[in-house]
Amino acid sequence: MVILKSLQEIEKIQRAGRLVAEVLEAMRQAVRPGVSTAVLDEQAEKIIRASGAKPAFKGYRGYPRTLCTSINDQVIHGIPSKATILKEGDIVSIDVGTIVDGFYGDAAITVPVGPISTAAGRLIRVTEEALMRGIEAARPGNRLYDISAAVQEHVESHGYSVVREFVGHGIGRSLHEDPQVPNFGERGRGPRLQAGMVLAIEPMVNMGGSKTVVTDDQWTAVTADGSLSAHFEHTIAILDDGPRILTLRQ
Ligand code: MF3
Ligand code: CO
Repeated sequence: MVILKSLQEIEKIQRAGRLVAEVLEAMRQAVRPGVSTAVLDEQAEKIIRASGAKPAFKGYRGYPRTLCTSINDQVIHGIPSKATILKEGDIVSIDVGTIVDGFYGDAAITVPVGPISTAAGRLIRVTEEALMRGIEAARPGNRLYDISAAVQEHVESHGYSVVREFVGHGIGRSLHEDPQVPNFGERGRGPRLQAGMVLAIEPMVNMGGSKTVVTDDQWTAVTADGSLSAHFEHTIAILDDGPRILTLRQ
């Protein structure tokens, strides 16, 4: 069941989303060769708690940390660790959620660690562009899979593939609500989009094949073929006049 949100509720989600954006900006600044993903995680948790909010992922289905930090062929849900040290040329996807006043915000970025290859830079750029194409399609009167198709077409036109085993989601008083928001689908299909829907749109894009495997830690998803993967996510609200991104800084 899709739960439509009032403008007041959307503003609460936006408060959570602004904090998410602030954390991601701090992480972008903190990422450099030699830093461990555990240090990033601790810094992120401090920022969230200092503003009186709560990290959304920590404790969610037993997930142990504030951030997901997924390096290179890791797609999503990489667990921060003291033993995981970023090195020049890596790309790292950083995903974070917050809870403010009972409402969730959720977003992710992929960041270069020092200078990276042209190919990796292009993967990051195309993944972020695909997210923005998806967001543009999130308007009343369109259908849900118009978002999915916009993402998929942009990704595949660059020779990359979209992950199918994980999808975006509705969000509000829970981290994951209906509907699921796949990054693949056919234009003109799916439920009609309505003002008041709040969605986390999150393309996960692989340089090679679309298949993923969950590793022995039961969380980290990696590409089956070892190819690089990037991930961007925003929480957005559908308003009468189009999409509003809720995970931007003030
Ligand atoms: N952005 C991801 C999601 O929406 C992060 C969830 S990590 C988890 O599913 F630990 F909370 F599961
Ligand atoms: Co999400």
